[in-house]
Amino acid sequence: MSDQPRRPRTSGKPYRRPKKDPVRILAFEALRAVDERDAYANLVLPPLLRKAREKEGPEAFDARDAALATELVYGTLRWQGTYDAVIERCVDRPLGEVDPPVLDVLSLGAHQLLGTRIPTHAAVSATVELARVVLGDGRAKFVNAVLRKVAQDDLDGWLERVAPAYDDDPEDHLAVVHSHPRWVVSALWDSLGGGRAGIEELLRADNERPEVTLVARPGRATSEELLGEDAAVPGRWSPYAVRLTEGGEPGAIAAVRDGRAGVQDEGSQLVAIALANAPLEGPDRRWLDGCAGPGGKAALLGALAAQRGAALVASEKQTHRAGLVARALEGNPGPYQVIAADGTRPAWRPGSFDRVLVDVPCTGLGALRRRPEARWRRRPEDLEGFAPLQRGLLRTALESVRVGGVVGYATCSPHLAETRAVVADVLKQFPDTELVDARPLLPGVPDLGEGPDVQLWPHLHGTDAMYLALIRRTG
Ligand SMILES: C[S@@+](CC[C@H](N)C(=O)[O-])C[C@H]1O[C@@H](n2cnc3c(N)ncnc32)[C@H](O)[C@@H]1O
Repeated sequence: MSDQPRRPRTSGKPYRRPKKDPVRILAFEALRAVDERDAYANLVLPPLLRKAREKEGPEAFDARDAALATELVYGTLRWQGTYDAVIERCVDRPLGEVDPPVLDVLSLGAHQLLGTRIPTHAAVSATVELARVVLGDGRAKFVNAVLRKVAQDDLDGWLERVAPAYDDDPEDHLAVVHSHPRWVVSALWDSLGGGRAGIEELLRADNERPEVTLVARPGRATSEELLGEDAAVPGRWSPYAVRLTEGGEPGAIAAVRDGRAGVQDEGSQLVAIALANAPLEGPDRRWLDGCAGPGGKAALLGALAAQRGAALVASEKQTHRAGLVARALEGNPGPYQVIAADGTRPAWRPGSFDRVLVDVPCTGLGALRRRPEARWRRRPEDLEGFAPLQRGLLRTALESVRVGGVVGYATCSPHLAETRAVVADVLKQFPDTELVDARPLLPGVPDLGEGPDVQLWPHLHGTDAMYLALIRRTG
């Protein structure tokens, strides 16, 4: 007896079951989770990959399959803006009227066709098979028709057709060509300054996957120890940094498992290093991290403080994140305390710290390489939401430091509304302060701008776009 189900036939061809491709089904599920539940791709992927490995077995779903699934998800999300512009030309209705799951399948197909080396026929047929499985045969025909149109040109050809000319509208051109929202292009350009070449390099860097960088927490691990790992090379700027040039599994490294080392972008390491190295007269015994969760900078500051004989207080508003800080600091060689407290209503006496870091909540526009969906989720209105908190946290930090002590105000966003504007506004209320030139505290790091604050950039430094202003209380 045939195992083919009885189906009404619309053509003379016998019904064929769609082929189930676990890699593409997984990629589709991840995209749906990001779209429907506002999930983060980097959090959704690991459990999906684990489930696929368990279900299919390690041979049917191996490391290469996992790498392809990850690339399909990250690439599709990053390039969504560009692919939307292309797909819009290939469908007969506005994109808003295309069912979101159908659009996810189309984007996944567009990425394979325009953003990978997968041969055209394989990209189309694999995506149509996926559509048959997850959308049904009817909608798979629509997917097939649209992808055949997308396949008629390569990415450069499409960009010439869908992006406005640079001379007519530079920001819109860059937004479509480099797949960033226009307002983000505009904000990044305002902060970076300069002409077309620089902003294009930055936008290109935002579309690259960042290397995995480790920090060897001083006094607990050495970079030499980490350099023994596969394809590990020294960091570019931080003496504690080691880059894993071929990615790998940091959780499998003993020093990382024990908390003596961690995963930390070099930009974040530089922020902690600059604050720790800022010149200080008088005692240097009490350091505060006022926005510590999940604890990356606190762990480095704690280790540096210990070398100096200083103690660290790490404070974080959210209790569960304070728990992560406690875990990050476990085994710190010097004294430390973790508290769950609102940094705008300090649980400590004014003027009681020698060094204070506030790495404030922000839009994260400096870390777009890591969070492929973030650029599409953020809205310009978010800036207004963060503004009072950023100012409040900096004000409290300035009240918490003693006269002569130093505050580091940091963001992982280069948006001027979150960086210089906050510092300038708050310092108007604190006349007895001065900005400390942070550039000499990062020896050997080029292109730090005109100072006294510093702005790091993915395309210039290979780091997240971290911002740091150092402020001393003078009276
Ligand atoms: C950018 S993150 C800090 C990252 C951290 N410095 C690290 O390197 O791991 C900002 C943190 O501030 C916390 N936060 C938000 N509002 C706060 C407040 N009013 N007081 C203290 N912390 C707050 C957030 O929960 C978040 O964990």
